[in-house]
Amino acid sequence: MTRVGVYPGSFDPITKGHEDLIHRSLAFVDKLVVAVAVNVSKQPLFTLDERVALIEQTVRDKAIAVRSFDGLLVNFARSVGATVIVRGLRAVSDFEYEFQMALMNRTLAPKLETVFLVPAFDLTYLSSSLVREVARFGGDVSALVHPAVQQALHQKLGK
Ligand code: PNS
Repeated sequence: MTRVGVYPGSFDPITKGHEDLIHRSLAFVDKLVVAVAVNVSKQPLFTLDERVALIEQTVRDKAIAVRSFDGLLVNFARSVGATVIVRGLRAVSDFEYEFQMALMNRTLAPKLETVFLVPAFDLTYLSSSLVREVARFGGDVSALVHPAVQQALHQKLGK
């Protein structure tokens, strides 16, 4: 049986923290669908197509697919045959939101399990919003994102 996982998020843009989690998840799923949410409440820096393309350029592995989704995550997960939702937990501050989301998703789809992964220690502080902020002010993000993302930030922000 092929075990399919879904790793949802805004990925605005994908960071080395996301990359780390994607690779860690292959320890327990055969195929991972990275699911880029169309409906991000916040106005994203990158368009949906750009966010998808940056993930495709960053992660090249036959076991990883990149897709966008609109609407409820549980419906998307069902449509790709996923049995597991993967999310990262960095700090206690992530916990309440993640817990709420996991329980809501369980209410909507009782058989879909949420699995939380802890990123590599040196990536724990990393978030897309911090990357955007550092890049916006011309800071060096080369240790935080793939070179393709660094270049895209450069182009987008003119820095
Ligand atoms: O990277 P993010 O912004 O923390 O990701 C949040 C995301 C996209 C995973 C979450 O907002 C989501 O699943 N949105 C889809 C809509 C949905 O299913 N909402 C109910 C879940 S509680």
